[in-house]
Amino acid sequence: MIKRVLVVVSALALLASGLLFTASAQDGPTPQEQAEAATETRQGLFKLLIFNLRPIADMAQGAPFDAEVAETNARRIAALAPMIPDVLGAMDTRNFDVETEALDLIWDNMTDIQTKAQALVDNAIAFADTAAGGDMGATLGAFRALGGSCGNCHDTYRVDND
Ligand code: HEC
Repeated sequence: MIKRVLVVVSALALLASGLLFTASAQDGPTPQEQAEAATETRQGLFKLLIFNLRPIADMAQGAPFDAEVAETNARRIAALAPMIPDVLGAMDTRNFDVETEALDLIWDNMTDIQTKAQALVDNAIAFADTAAGGDMGATLGAFRALGGSCGNCHDTYRVDND
């Protein structure tokens, strides 16, 4: 009787470990799914950058000047930009089938990506500091450098669709 119980118990244990193994083998995302998620994450960061830049760009094109919005949004850009090398470096998606405008050479040039992201940080801080002074002419004068540091990276590392 005891023997029989033991057999049943060990059979159940085997079954359970088999289920656990199957579960863990199927649970995690596949590399393809990871590549898709990494692509969505980095595109999400760039969407946040444009969300914050757009009102500033509108001011540069004649929308009413609001120094407070200009400063706030530029400081947000300065806070987001250091994440650019992180989200691009999080996964090399060159060999996956993902919908992306990121050019392959990004992953051979991460040091330069870092440099270009830092240039954006520096120009966003300079812009925000100028906006804090409230001078519309000086602030909008600093816009070219800020916007230019987005384009400077896109020119080299993003599909050319401008
Ligand atoms: C260091 C490089 C770099 C900098 C700096 C940079 N970008 Fe980009 N950006 C990229 C790359 C690479 C992509 C393509 C990402 C993809 O499709 O996977 C991209 C994509 C985008 C997209 C498209 C996102 C989407 O919907 O898929 C927008 C919008 C964008 N960037 C805006 C900006 C703005 C605004 C700035 C400056 C405030 C900026 N970027 C600075 C490299 C950069």
